[in-house]
Amino acid sequence: MTGARRANSCTPPRLSLRRPTEADIDAILAIHRDPETCLHNPSDALTQLDEAGELYRRWNDQWQRCGYGYWVVRRHGSALQLGFSGIKPMELQSMKVLNLFYRFATSAWGQGYASEAAAAVTAWASRHVPDIPLIARVRPTNIASQRVAVRAGLTRAEHLDGAGYDGFDWIYGTRLPH
Ligand SMILES: CC(C)(COP(=O)(O)OP(=O)(O)OC[C@H]1O[C@@H](n2cnc3c(N)ncnc32)[C@H](O)[C@@H]1OP(=O)(O)O)[C@@H](O)C(=O)NCCC(=O)NCCS
Repeated sequence: MTGARRANSCTPPRLSLRRPTEADIDAILAIHRDPETCLHNPSDALTQLDEAGELYRRWNDQWQRCGYGYWVVRRHGSALQLGFSGIKPMELQSMKVLNLFYRFATSAWGQGYASEAAAAVTAWASRHVPDIPLIARVRPTNIASQRVAVRAGLTRAEHLDGAGYDGFDWIYGTRLPH
């Protein structure tokens, strides 16, 4: 068991982050079915419960493979899923990276939750997966997401900008090779 596998929770001040379970599939659907949450990334939008179940299984497979993945974000002491944030290994321009993800219910926006969760995930990644650079791929018009990436400690890496699933992506990163 690696260090990363031992730690499947992390604890920012107001928030509690835990590994998803099948009981989160309804929340996965609710958050990804809202057109506002996928406005900048329409390829992530879901409409059906079975799609949410499939997405949960992909998240869970990654947890089993890597010992880390996407966390469910809640307020301490509350069962309500505010959103999701986590890391996924991928390749960016032939470089192995961790992609930082965050998506929250619109009812939770504007209260600093995404910044708090993304900062905790970034800290977790630098502690447990220090050898892999962390990046965020952000659409140029997604100002809120850009602010969250900066608040989590990432900086613009223009030299890595390029085509993404939904158009041109701006790249933010940390621990990138020079
Ligand atoms: C991006 C997202 C996670 C931000 O969530 P949030 O909890 O509202 O973020 P925070 O409250 O931590 O705010 C972070 C910053 O964004 C700013 N912000 C929030 N919403 C904004 C908006 N609609 N327009 C401009 N700035 C905005 C906040 O003022 C704050 O700025 P500051 O750092 O200067 O104080 C949320 O909007 C979301 O889930 N969007 C859909 C999914 C998505 O786009 N994910 C990113 C894919 S790359």
